[in-house]
Amino acid sequence: MKRLMSFRGEQGLFAAFHDIKEKGGAMRTILLLLITAFVMMPLSNAQAQKAKTIDELAKQFDSSQCKSCHAEIYAQWEMSHHARPLMGVKGGLMLTPLAMKGTSPFSPDDPKKATIKTFPCFKCHLPQAVSSAEDSVAVELAEALLAKDSAKIAKLQITCIVCHNEKAIVHKLTEGFPEKGVIYGSKNIDNHPGGKIKKSVIMKEAPFCGQCHGLGPNFEFDNPVQCANLYGSYEHAYIPAGGTQTCQQCHMQKVNGKADHLISPNFNDEQKTSEQLSKAINLDVQTLGYEWLRKAKDYRPLIVVNTKISHTAGHRIPDG
Ligand code: HEC
Ligand code: HEC
Ligand code: HEC
Ligand code: HEC
Ligand code: HEC
Repeated sequence: MKRLMSFRGEQGLFAAFHDIKEKGGAMRTILLLLITAFVMMPLSNAQAQKAKTIDELAKQFDSSQCKSCHAEIYAQWEMSHHARPLMGVKGGLMLTPLAMKGTSPFSPDDPKKATIKTFPCFKCHLPQAVSSAEDSVAVELAEALLAKDSAKIAKLQITCIVCHNEKAIVHKLTEGFPEKGVIYGSKNIDNHPGGKIKKSVIMKEAPFCGQCHGLGPNFEFDNPVQCANLYGSYEHAYIPAGGTQTCQQCHMQKVNGKADHLISPNFNDEQKTSEQLSKAINLDVQTLGYEWLRKAKDYRPLIVVNTKISHTAGHRIPDG
């Protein structure tokens, strides 16, 4: 048994298994049990039960139970782009080309052949599909896109649990993977009525948002995709130029004492968006009009226009 405890790699494990198998008996049973435990552990960690349908995936990450106590935050979130990440601006169902033959490099010949990989957009628009869904969810989505079944597609959201669990830990090798059933926030709360809250060190920091708001092209795909990249601009332009604010400080300013989960802009609200943009963007125009005396009695009207456009955002705008 002493030797068993010191096993590390698979090779050692199976070499020893072979060794003892020759002798048979109780030792073998104990060893088999140990091996079973060894193999089962990583499986249960990796959420062995993957969702097979859109409804199952939506249910696994359903956050409607948060609504009763966090009504205001819930209402803000429901209006936000995070609550409709596959719907497109004004319901444009922007993933449709990925379901139609020949309209994107990822499109399958037949929606039945869609897989999680043929929707590289899931990395940021629906990260729980990558970790927790079977390919059958991609098939169902491709069929729903072709049928313009908005009601079905709307069920797939970046819910409270996606941000407060799935995306709450970035240094997983040192801090461990997010635990099932735990909510992560900016402090520990053991007696949180909605379930235990553990502290996430990144919740209030820019890298939390940077996980989905992009550094640049995503070269890991067979066909690189570049969608959102303003976290790159934040890291490489805003911070080096002396910027000090986090994404949360600008985008989640407190409303009634709590971080605003609308996380504006909301592009479906044109009036509010243009109000915010006109506050954020400055256009400075200096002009000089004069007459140029080219030769005697020949006055030519000329103008010099100097324009300078600046803005207060912590990154390039517009993005994408
Ligand atoms: C039964 C009521 C109740 C439910 C349900 C509930 N919460 Fe809470 N939650 C609270 C109360 C009360 C506090 C304030 C506790 C405190 O700050 O000490 C709180 C605080 C929090 C915090 C703040 C922690 C921090 O960083 O300061 C987070 C995050 C949170 N809840 C998330 C959630 C999420 C996500 C859900 C749904 C999965 C949820 N809550 C469901 C009552 C509830
Ligand atoms: C690196 C993460 C990431 C990947 C990968 C990604 N997106 Fe995005 N996408 C975002 C974020 C974040 C936004 C919103 C913020 C922005 O535009 O800066 C966005 C916005 C959009 C928008 C504009 C808003 C809207 O709803 O109409 C479209 C269209 C879009 N993405 C389509 C796609 C498609 C299609 C794919 C896959 C081929 C994809 N994205 C892959 C992160 C990503
Ligand atoms: C799980 C991935 C994810 C995380 C984490 C995330 N976002 Fe997003 N965010 C998105 C996607 C995807 C969209 C675009 C949805 C759509 O297509 O309309 C978006 C939209 C937005 C928008 C609306 C404007 C737009 O272009 O659609 C803002 C603002 C925004 N996010 C800011 C933030 C901030 C600030 C944080 C961190 C506190 C954050 N996001 C965290 C994925 C994420
Ligand atoms: C110094 C304040 C500030 C910081 C820091 C900041 N933003 Fe912004 N952000 C703005 C302003 C201002 C706008 C443009 C006005 C508007 O539409 O609300 C904007 C616009 C956006 C948009 C819409 C982009 C578009 O195409 O129009 C997204 C998405 C966004 N920010 C996400 C983030 C994320 C993610 C971070 C952190 C990596 C971040 N912001 C950091 C102030 C900031
Ligand atoms: C896009 C990611 C994202 C989503 C989705 C999200 N949250 Fe948060 N939440 C955050 C971040 C980041 C903070 C920390 C903000 C800060 O303190 O500046 C936060 C903070 C909170 C807090 C503490 C607020 C405070 O100021 O004390 C509560 C409570 C909370 N979230 C509940 C929820 C609930 C409930 C939902 C679903 C309706 C939800 N969150 C959805 C990212 C998210």
